[in-house]
Amino acid sequence: MSAATMPRPDAVHVRAPGKINLRLRVGPVRRDGYHPLATVFQAVSLFEDVHARVADDISVSVSGRHAERVPTDERNLAHCAATLLADATGTSAGVHLHITKEVPVAGGMGGGSADAAATLLACDQLWGTGLDREELGHLAAELGADVPFALTGQTALGVGRGDMLTPALARGRYHWVLAVSETGLPTPEVFASLDASGTIPPNRRVSVPPSMMKALLTGEPSRLTSHLVNDLAEPAVHLRPHLTQVLAAFEGTDALATIVSGSGPTIAALAADHTAAVAIAEQVRRSRVADEVLVVHGPVPGARLTEQVRTDR
Ligand code: C5P
Repeated sequence: MSAATMPRPDAVHVRAPGKINLRLRVGPVRRDGYHPLATVFQAVSLFEDVHARVADDISVSVSGRHAERVPTDERNLAHCAATLLADATGTSAGVHLHITKEVPVAGGMGGGSADAAATLLACDQLWGTGLDREELGHLAAELGADVPFALTGQTALGVGRGDMLTPALARGRYHWVLAVSETGLPTPEVFASLDASGTIPPNRRVSVPPSMMKALLTGEPSRLTSHLVNDLAEPAVHLRPHLTQVLAAFEGTDALATIVSGSGPTIAALAADHTAAVAIAEQVRRSRVADEVLVVHGPVPGARLTEQVRTDR
């Protein structure tokens, strides 16, 4: 049976990961308000689940971590993604999207971007619009700078706004401890605070050194530590001074290095292995400086279809 004659599912389930930025270098603000980035993304094992089912119009519901802080109307990035795909393909079909959140909201881990990426893939299946990964990638970039990465996952170098991706050859599995805050940080505020600090020279060019790509090839966490830098760390800490205490809580532990994830306020600490990560998490939990402490690993795949359901109509 060809793809065109295959019966379409009535419901699909797509899962997409959150991310941390192993390196995030920021250049001077561009005319369009975006900053040129040189970043290395790693997708980690915190997932957004999107259950999509055929409906008359486009609607969204949300459950899971921090769900009460997520809008369900047109401001929701998953809603935007469904609308964009419908407009781009001229389809009049609708969808109900139920999002189950694991990625902290406004936590610097690309949760909304994961929802958008998962929705593009889910609606493409549900509506039979048949776009390939490259076409979905173009729509993803229209939705936000981090959305293309949520489609591809794994470990990747990102330039431009962070949306021009090159897969990175990374060996092994990295173990991270995440210190999560209940209160999020809006990304534009963090970039604006960096601009206001005047610390980016107007002619600054940003890049990722080849030595970092080599370190990723070894699969040894200890080789990565000197490359873990984030230009958004200072502005994030400036906006949330409490993060100083969270960072300090990792100091007495076996964490190999600690970074602010993306635009924060999530803090990510690299551990030597899973056992070390569990021990570090326990110590940081006891210090009571973070609202929640999680152990995750990376890299993991990008958005993928996990289930299709067809009921007889
Ligand atoms: O693309 P996205 O909507 O996720 O970006 C959110 C905001 O983050 C942008 O409006 C911009 O203020 C900031 N941003 C930036 N430069 C980037 C990516 C994001 O200034 N490369």
